Amino acid sequence: MAEAKIIDGKAFAADLRNKVADQVHQLKENNNVTPGLAVVLVGEDPASKIYVQNKNKMTIEAGMKSFEHKLPADTSQKELLTLIEGLNNDPEVHGILVQLPLPNQINEQDILTKIDPTKDVDGFHIFNAGKLATGSDGLVPCTPLGCIIMIKDQFDGDLSGKQALVIGRSNIVGKPMATLLLRENCTVTIAHSRTVNLQAEAKRADIIVAAVGRAQMVKGDWVKEGAIIIDVGMNRLPKDKEGKSKLCGDVDFDEVKKIAGAITPVPGGVGPMTIACLLQNTVTAACAQNDLEIPKI
Ligand code: GUN
Repeated sequence: MAEAKIIDGKAFAADLRNKVADQVHQLKENNNVTPGLAVVLVGEDPASKIYVQNKNKMTIEAGMKSFEHKLPADTSQKELLTLIEGLNNDPEVHGILVQLPLPNQINEQDILTKIDPTKDVDGFHIFNAGKLATGSDGLVPCTPLGCIIMIKDQFDGDLSGKQALVIGRSNIVGKPMATLLLRENCTVTIAHSRTVNLQAEAKRADIIVAAVGRAQMVKGDWVKEGAIIIDVGMNRLPKDKEGKSKLCGDVDFDEVKKIAGAITPVPGGVGPMTIACLLQNTVTAACAQNDLEIPKI
């Protein structure tokens, strides 16, 4: 059997970012609206710093306004809430993203529910989570949104009746991912740390989305021939002899690519699509706030 097709997340993302840049151009020309995204970083987490840098760079490249707020690690709940209140009331800001994780003294869920749901471009507010769960239009979390776009492309848009397995039940990825797959008429299983015989669940899946944060957990003999594998994991392997530490996903790429029909690599798969979807969500939010038609993805 031929090896799996490698799903090129970078190419998908570049295509979506181009579409977003066109939409931004139209909004500026026709409606005098420039979408603006505020990104809030609390503390010095090195990975978060890089993510935030990339988000700001891509926001500007798409022709939008970027507002970067860097706060010290000892910022209090009250100080962060004051900043969010200011952003909620700022008409130039259409989207607000608070980079997670937050330091321990801050109650994450409380912060997320204080973001104006119409500006919640992460889609983490309970209002948007509820809209997704009940099938009405709202802001959808960026990583699952990027995944469903790439999955649909593998099946020419029709996922009806496919067996889908989501490994991981986080509010950020697993739960919204399962809902999006259900919305496309998949038969969805959500697996987690207490699942009995995960391998057997994986073996019957046409689509697997792995989002558990365990390096190379999904092995070649777990996977049905021809299945579509989406790897959301971003793990660092222990340093090698030269002192370098490689990034890897939740899927054992070298094994699984011999069996699967298509697979996302790490890096270069889901990651770039997450940022592109954040930009798309910012345009969606800007349109909704100005009573303009929301562009179709
Ligand atoms: N940290 C890791 N992923 C994400 C994300 O999608 N959004 C935010 N705000 N923080 C994150």
